[in-house]
This record gives sequence, structure tokens and C-alpha cells, in this order.
Amino acid sequence: MEMREQWRSRWGFVLAAAGSAVGLGNLWGFSYKASQGGGAAFILLYLLIVLVVCLPVLVAEMVLGRSTGSSPLLAPVKAGGKLWQPMGWIFVIASCAILSFYAVLMGWTADTFFHSLFFGLPQSIEEAKAFKDSVSNGSSVFLGQLLSLGLTAAVVSAGIRGGIEKIAKWSMPLLFGLVIILAIWSSTLPDAWLGYKEFLLKWDSSKFFAPKTIRLAFGQAFFSLSLGIGIMVAYSSYLNKKNQLPKEALIISGMDTAVAILAGMVTFPIVANFSEVIKPVIEEDKGSFITTFFVALPTGLSSLGITGQIITVLLFSLTFIAALTSAISLLEVPVSSLIDGFGWNRNKAVIFSTLFIFVIGVPSALSGKFLGKMFAYSEVLLLIGGFFISILLGWFVTRNYDQDLAECNSQIGVRRYLKFMLRWVSPIAIGFGLFVSVYDLLKPAAT
Ligand code: PFF
Repeated sequence: MEMREQWRSRWGFVLAAAGSAVGLGNLWGFSYKASQGGGAAFILLYLLIVLVVCLPVLVAEMVLGRSTGSSPLLAPVKAGGKLWQPMGWIFVIASCAILSFYAVLMGWTADTFFHSLFFGLPQSIEEAKAFKDSVSNGSSVFLGQLLSLGLTAAVVSAGIRGGIEKIAKWSMPLLFGLVIILAIWSSTLPDAWLGYKEFLLKWDSSKFFAPKTIRLAFGQAFFSLSLGIGIMVAYSSYLNKKNQLPKEALIISGMDTAVAILAGMVTFPIVANFSEVIKPVIEEDKGSFITTFFVALPTGLSSLGITGQIITVLLFSLTFIAALTSAISLLEVPVSSLIDGFGWNRNKAVIFSTLFIFVIGVPSALSGKFLGKMFAYSEVLLLIGGFFISILLGWFVTRNYDQDLAECNSQIGVRRYLKFMLRWVSPIAIGFGLFVSVYDLLKPAAT
């Protein structure tokens, strides 16, 4: 049998996993949802969910990959038996579905980048409308989607060490550097403080218990951590026993949350400073989640002339790099599953999966509304995946969890805590999150 490829180093794995976690969800989704979910109420709920509910599941997903050494399609069967086969399929279907619209969003990011670089920024509502049309309609959308999927496929076909690990090692430090520089720049804007207040300090306790805030916070936590979809199973299947998974899970979620908050510290001061220009652009499109980031920010920044243009170009190049390392991880799920389950070689698996994902992404490329729905429902799939992971490892194959963590020398106290949470807290909390999310999505006039 061929030897399974392994990460070159411990940091290679951590950076690749963090690369998967840090993506459009952090740079654009977090700020958008914070503004929809009442600022601090959303952030507090999100942090609570990450720390209490998601961390044990993240470790469980990693254990599932490492202890079985299998792809997301086969790992549940190898651990729990034939009955768990549907879980493997949920992973594969969910990752293809998410990448199908994610690639469209990446395409918009690339379009915004090129447009800002070569043609400048929109200066008025009319120009903003034209900017939006050129970025999100017509052939440029397909071009962007194709370019994004092509780049993603190229990295994945180069394999774990030669592709995924290599790109994570240079892109993650670059990304951190850029987001910190931009956050510092934003803090120098005259109305920066107003932006922070709106983002981090606005407190409305009624929002804390609102179904919409609960849905947004659960969805964001799972989406942002790339959790419940088998990505961590795939990445951890290339690990050896040296990695201390609980510690690494903490580092990965810490990096992910830090970038989300830093990104908010970039965007909120911009919105606060240029609100006369930005607010009408957002309102023009009924607060569309797409317009705010891709159109309103560049329009606001245009007031600063060349500085605004440089900031926009930097912001969107940063966003594209972050999205690329996430898209790679999404593609690795079907690719590793086809290699593992059907004996295909990597190139064949990459070509087939990429073409399939391109085709199912066409409706999202044609309609922003459809894309929004895909986004909202995909988060429900992640919660379902997370729920079953906690049931499988917390109740059915607890030995995998115990043994795997004992073998990598995690402290006994940490192990006991994680196992308790995985059995008793995560499934109940995720079940609750699922119930509220479905209720909120199905009620009339949900966004
Ligand atoms: N975590 C990435 C983001 O926040 O953009 C992308 C992502 C990967 C989302 C995997 C969802 C997912 F299941």
C-alpha cells in the first residue's frame, strides 16, 4: 500500500488549518453579522459558542481524522461502522455546495481588486451602481469564478506538502501582517472610535436572545472554524502523533477569532467615517450583504483619493489570499474522498471535483439572492455535521477520543474536560442552535 502523505512540520498543519479557518467568513461575514446581530451581543454569543461548544468538536473532528487515517468519506465508517456512512456523504456534499458559492464570492473579490487597481474607485451612488454591476454581473463573474477555482485546483493537485502546506506557510504571516497594518491605519481615522462603539461596544440585551442573533452566531462559529464538514478530518488524517490536538485547536481558533475582530476593526471605522457616502449605497441595495463589503467600502474610501485606492487594493488582496487557503481546504474534502474511496489519482480527482463544483456554482454566479440562500442553509449543514461528530466521538467511539489524545500526551485534566463537554454540552447546545436556526430561516421574511 502507498504511504499516506504527511505534513512536513507541526506548524505546517497548524497554519494550513488556520488558513482554512481564516477566510471570507472572517473578513466579510463577521463584520456583516455583527452589524446585523446587534454588535456586542453577537460577538459575546459567538465567543461563548467557540469556546464552550466548538472547541471540543474541533478536537473531535481532528481525532476522527488522525485515528482513522482516512478521508472524510470513509473516516466515519472506519470509526463507527457502516451505519455512519451518510455522515461521510454529508461532508462531501456540504463541502462541494459551499465551495460552489464560495468560488463566486472569491471571483467578486478578485474583480473588485482588479477594478480598484486599474479603474479606480466609485465616487458616487451612480458609479457605485455601475461598479456593482461590473463586479457581480455578466461574464466577469464567470471569469472570476473560473480563475478562483483554477488557482484552488492547482494548489490542491500539488498535494499536501508541495501545495497546501507551502502556500499556508507564506500566506498566513502575510495575511496577519496586512490585517494588522490595515487595523492600525483605520484606527487613525478621525471617527474610528465611533466605529468601534458600533461594532464592539454597542450593547442591546434583547438582541442576545433574538433567534436571528443565535442563528448568526452559531452559523458564524461553525463556518468560520470550517467545522462540521470534514475539513479537519482530511487535514488531520495526514498527521502523526506528535501534534497535541487540544493545544493546536486552541491556537487555530485563537487565530481565527483574532483575524475576525481585527477585520472588524478595519471596516467599522471606515463605515463610521464615510457614512454619508456609504449609508446611501447600502440602503440603495436594501442592506444587501454583498453590497456592504464589495461596493460600499470602496465607495467610502474613494474620498481619500490615492490612499483610499491603496487601502482598497490591499484589503481585497488580503481577502483573496485568505479565501484561497479556505477554498483549498474545501476542495481537499471531495478530492481526498475520491482518492481514498474510489482509488483515483490526485489529478483526476481534482479535475473531476473542480468541474463538478463549477457547474453547481452557476446558479450562485447568476443570482446573488440564490447565493445568499445557499450561504444561510449551508450553515445549517455544518451544524448537522458538528452534531453527528459530537455524537459519534462523544458516545459511540469514545475510545478513539481517549486513546488518541492520551497518545499525544495531552494533560488528563484537559482530556476529561473536553470529553465531558463533548458528551454533555456540545450536542445539546448544537441541537438547540439547529432548532433556532431552522426556525429563524423558515419564518417568513427571514434574511
Ligand atoms: N472558514 C472559512 C471562512 O470563514 O471563510 C471558509 C469555510 C471553510 C467555510 C469551510 C465553511 C466551511 F465549511
